[in-house]
Amino acid sequence: MTLYLQPLTLLLVCVLLRQTLVDGATCKDCFIHSRAAHYPNSDEMGTETGACGFGSFGAIINGGDVSAASNLYRDGVGCGACYQVRCTNSMYCSDKGVTVVITDSGSGDNTDFILSRRAYAKMSQTTYAAASLLALGVVDIEYRRVPCSYPYKNITFKIDENSNYPHYLAFVIWYQQGKKDVTAVQLCETTNLSCKLLDRSHGAVWTVVTPPSGPLSIRMLLSDVDDGEETWVVPLNNIPQNWKAGDIYDSGIQVE
Ligand SMILES: *[C@@H]1O[C@H](CO)[C@@H](O)[C@H](O)[C@H]1NC(C)=O
Ligand SMILES: *[C@@H]1O[C@H](CO)[C@@H](O)[C@H](O)[C@H]1NC(C)=O
Repeated sequence: MTLYLQPLTLLLVCVLLRQTLVDGATCKDCFIHSRAAHYPNSDEMGTETGACGFGSFGAIINGGDVSAASNLYRDGVGCGACYQVRCTNSMYCSDKGVTVVITDSGSGDNTDFILSRRAYAKMSQTTYAAASLLALGVVDIEYRRVPCSYPYKNITFKIDENSNYPHYLAFVIWYQQGKKDVTAVQLCETTNLSCKLLDRSHGAVWTVVTPPSGPLSIRMLLSDVDDGEETWVVPLNNIPQNWKAGDIYDSGIQVE
């Protein structure tokens, strides 16, 4: 009996070991351990002056469940990325945690996230637990990147207030769904298709000096963080020829 069992046991151990190794190598949905703090101000939402350049939108997007990131800010590439963050103290914390959007850059005491107070409190099981968590100020967490979801929203271009028609165009990208990064942006004049690669001035803000005239098409290069695949996305709608600082334009598309 033992003679037959032993090879079988060995086989099982090998299979389990292999499984663990494979999981380890392709663990793109695994949680990563870190720490999270909350904004020191009394505002429930995030900040309107976040490093991403989203402006007041940076405080209210995702219902105010937003965060500043340190390493995950990635020189602005991380702006608009979504993370599921859950604290690990089983007495206070829920399994689900909270899903936040990165709108700012910042670091605390060995933290990856500085959450809005609202988002931070949402990691708790109860209102009572939320008060205890807030009092701690910083907690151990686990996080993972998740797709952003904005139901009934298209990708939207907000022309920055600092733009100066027709000499200088700056804009940010709102409501970027999915789990990919915008790693480059091209601005194309739509009748003769002359295009310009834009500079990321800071955060999620893209700028161009002397933009092409005529209706403009803003094309985005989406890069998949998991497999490195890159795709240029062309919006359905153009930015009108007479664009204005402060205006908001619907791209007519959603992305995954
Ligand atoms: C494309 O068209 C725009 C507007 O008509 C014009 O200003 C620009 O010079 C043209 N570009 C090229 C490369 O022909
Ligand atoms: C998104 O774009 C589509 C296609 O242009 C349009 O029909 C739809 O109304 C837009 N949705 C929103 C919420 O603006």
